[in-house]
Amino acid sequence: MFRVNVFDRDGQSSAVDAEEGLPLMFALREGGLPVEGTCGGTAGCGTCHVFVEDGWMAQLAQPQATELDMLQALENYDPARSRLSCQIEMGPQLDGLVVTLAPEEFV
Ligand code: FES
Repeated sequence: MFRVNVFDRDGQSSAVDAEEGLPLMFALREGGLPVEGTCGGTAGCGTCHVFVEDGWMAQLAQPQATELDMLQALENYDPARSRLSCQIEMGPQLDGLVVTLAPEEFV
């Protein structure tokens, strides 16, 4: 298990446990955070959009084309820190990761 620090859309911080090899999106939902994940984790809905904080972006694998296409369709896309949490596979290098839930929007 790894710990992920999360700021919600009201700026409140909390921490969730994430399991190795599973997408961050599931950990956020299981931790009670308002992440819909309506596409089930296929980079098809954008509802799991997060901002990766505090230099953690460098620890993540580069996004695939499908993720980038979805991110770029989002109004709140920030090239420096936007990722889809369903495409972030948790592992030891991400223990202590800090993310902020992006504003809700519909694609
Ligand atoms: S859950 Fe749909 S894009 Fe991540």
